[in-house]
Amino acid sequence: MNDRVRLAVFISGSGSNLQSIIDRCADGTIPAEVALVVSSSPEAYGLVRAEQAGIEGVVYRRKDFPDGQAADEHLLSLLESHRIDLIALAGYLKMVAPAVITRYRGKIVNIHPGLLPKYGGKGMYGHFVHEAVVKAKEKETGVTIHVVDEIYDHGAILACEKVPVFPEDTPDELARRVLKVEHVLYPRVLKELSEKIAKEKSS
Ligand code: GRF
Repeated sequence: MNDRVRLAVFISGSGSNLQSIIDRCADGTIPAEVALVVSSSPEAYGLVRAEQAGIEGVVYRRKDFPDGQAADEHLLSLLESHRIDLIALAGYLKMVAPAVITRYRGKIVNIHPGLLPKYGGKGMYGHFVHEAVVKAKEKETGVTIHVVDEIYDHGAILACEKVPVFPEDTPDELARRVLKVEHVLYPRVLKELSEKIAKEKSS
């Protein structure tokens, strides 16, 4: 039986983190396979990346369903039919529904482009984080990877890495520096989690 860890990556945009995860699965660094990409937007470039890698990509928008329960059931059945073990949010701009968090408790992780708990919470995502960090003249920012629970940017922190902020930085420059770190740190954490899940699956 093939008990390779099956990973779902949730995206909303460019998907550069998705790409780093696909690449590290392909070269064997992460002992898992990206079995599904879920996008909150049909325009997300990450869907193109998924297609290029031969990975199924689906658009999932809660507004396409008659109610929240139908939306939850659809996503859960999608995850179950793809036998997903682990979910990585990578630039996913939507809240994950409580029913999904409950079903995959401790198995959903998120990457945040800042040092939590600072610059976290509702509305503090992507570029907004870098703008706030530059505006506050912080000397350092960073990347945080945490378990997803019912509260935005709140679950247990699995890893973080600091990134310097220079006085002349624009939010765009800072975003580029932070992303480089994201592309290394996220695969590292997903490698560790996949190894742990692989052991659980084989025992
Ligand atoms: C990253 O900075 C990530 O930390 C944040 O959104 C951005 C997504 O970038 N949550 P990409 O779509 O992976 O290129």
